Amino acid sequence: MAQPRLLGIIGDPIGHSLSPHMHNTAIEALGLNYLYVAFAVKPRDLAEAVAGMRALGLVGFNITIPHKEQMLALLHHLTDEARIIGAVNTVRCDGKELIGHNTDGIGLLTSLRNDAGFEPAGTRCVILGAGGASRAVTVQLALAGAAAIDLANRTRARAETLAQHVVAQIPGVQVAAHALDDAKLQDVLATADLIVNTTSIGMQSPDDTPLPESLIRSRHLVCDIVYRPLHTRLLREARKRGARALDGLGMLIHQGSAAFEWWTGQPFPVDRVRQSLIEALNGAAR
Ligand code: ATR
Repeated sequence: MAQPRLLGIIGDPIGHSLSPHMHNTAIEALGLNYLYVAFAVKPRDLAEAVAGMRALGLVGFNITIPHKEQMLALLHHLTDEARIIGAVNTVRCDGKELIGHNTDGIGLLTSLRNDAGFEPAGTRCVILGAGGASRAVTVQLALAGAAAIDLANRTRARAETLAQHVVAQIPGVQVAAHALDDAKLQDVLATADLIVNTTSIGMQSPDDTPLPESLIRSRHLVCDIVYRPLHTRLLREARKRGARALDGLGMLIHQGSAAFEWWTGQPFPVDRVRQSLIEALNGAAR
């Protein structure tokens, strides 16, 4: 059999990444001759590692923490998403040229549409958190035509900086910043359609939640981008309040799907991969 074509991921640490499992499951299901490999790379070695990926002829690769921003300087071209978000999670090697893309926000958007039937155009969205994940999600919801976006963060100043960035980059979108414990959030949530948690709160400790249960209403679709655990306290309480709840597995799968299809031109076997990831996550929890 011919040598497999190579895909990969670089990050540090990389041992807990589900991406190799996810992409190799897809490759096997489709009967393709590719192999997806994880590489632990320290920040000081990033440029050398990327030059190596190019020299070795990788088709493309993912970038994860802590390299998503530092990677920008090593690329020849950026997609609009990568440029506006200011971070890259996917690279395609086109000959000697490296193209940077960001599929994190696209992953969430596809999950909202495909897994929850939610179309963001014209809606009011509340995003909890103002870090890297929030940046990707906020930019993508703004690009998708959300009418208003409210950012609520523990550190209000960080939400303010992100709001200003998005308004400057995407004209016409309304973005407001709040502190996570601001009483005004109650009024904002009364008319909101979507709540997305982009903080790591439900992951750090499963009994914590970023939002008091009493603020959740049945009109909300509540999405937690955390997928370890799958059933965070925020989502459990959302269901109790009669709201719809969407876990972070869909965002993980669809960001991978967008990258895979961009690299290989093949349709990603979403259902097969979802099944396999649920088994992997349940196995890890045991
Ligand atoms: P990521 O790239 O995963 O978004 P990040 O850039 O470090 O990670 O951002 C983490 C986000 O989770 C931030 O919005 C952070 O709030 P601050 O900006 O105030 O630090 C939020 N966060 C993390 N732990 C939190 C906690 N215990 N309570 C409230 N917010 C928290």
